[in-house]
Amino acid sequence: MIHSASGAGLAARVQMNAMTNKSVSAMNADTADKIIVALDLPHLQAAHALVSKLGDAASFYKIGYELAFIGGLDLARELIAAGKKVFIDLKLHDIPNTIEKGVGQIATMGATFLTVHAYPQTLAAAAKGAQGSGLGILGVSVMTSMNDEDLVEAGYCLTVEKLVVLRAKQAKAAGAAGLICSAGDIANVRAAVGDGLKLITPGIRPAGSAVGDQKRVMTPGEAIRAGADHLVIGRPITAAADPAEAFGAILAEIGGI
Ligand code: C5P
Repeated sequence: MIHSASGAGLAARVQMNAMTNKSVSAMNADTADKIIVALDLPHLQAAHALVSKLGDAASFYKIGYELAFIGGLDLARELIAAGKKVFIDLKLHDIPNTIEKGVGQIATMGATFLTVHAYPQTLAAAAKGAQGSGLGILGVSVMTSMNDEDLVEAGYCLTVEKLVVLRAKQAKAAGAAGLICSAGDIANVRAAVGDGLKLITPGIRPAGSAVGDQKRVMTPGEAIRAGADHLVIGRPITAAADPAEAFGAILAEIGGI
């Protein structure tokens, strides 16, 4: 069900934008692909409104907990049908059989990425469930809202740095497509696993924007220079007075890198 004031479908509106805005260059399109807009919004109408505002400038969206349970997965299907790439951020973790079967179902949606927690059993089962589909499994290394003290409190005896590298190695061994890590982890991860994994980095904050609950942050430019393949960006775009302008500024910041 598409919620739109005009009644036009999302696919039609996206196509209309594509036809009326031919000024988006191929270079911009490649750069735009690096920005994954986190649709962390309270309802579908807000998500549709944001997608409309960003138009054909944005090509990659992430749907996570906030929308998934209130129709966000149907929105994901609509976005995919409209030619957008979608990252399903459900951070799955369960026994291998349940993960494999669940991921097998998600693999039919046509999404580009799905997150699971980067435990060896979970990664391997997810990779098995996604086999033969276009779905790439991303291992969540350590939340960018967590630092060394938070890991100690959660019962771990490794630093963030060591745990991220361990999980990167395990993600690669399990056949994952990529890893979620902070931009500050990229150098260590690349040194440990080479180029085999796509590195996707949340905790992105344009200069001067509110950090919120994130603890390990970098600007878009710094993260791309550090070697991030994709940036996951939520509130700096979704909470901006003018999301299209905020998106455009990030695009401009990373465009020349
Ligand atoms: O609003 P903000 O830019 O902080 O959003 C970051 C997004 O990335 C959120 O959707 C959050 O769930 C996700 N994420 C994260 N840290 C991780 C994994 C995912 O912030 N380690």
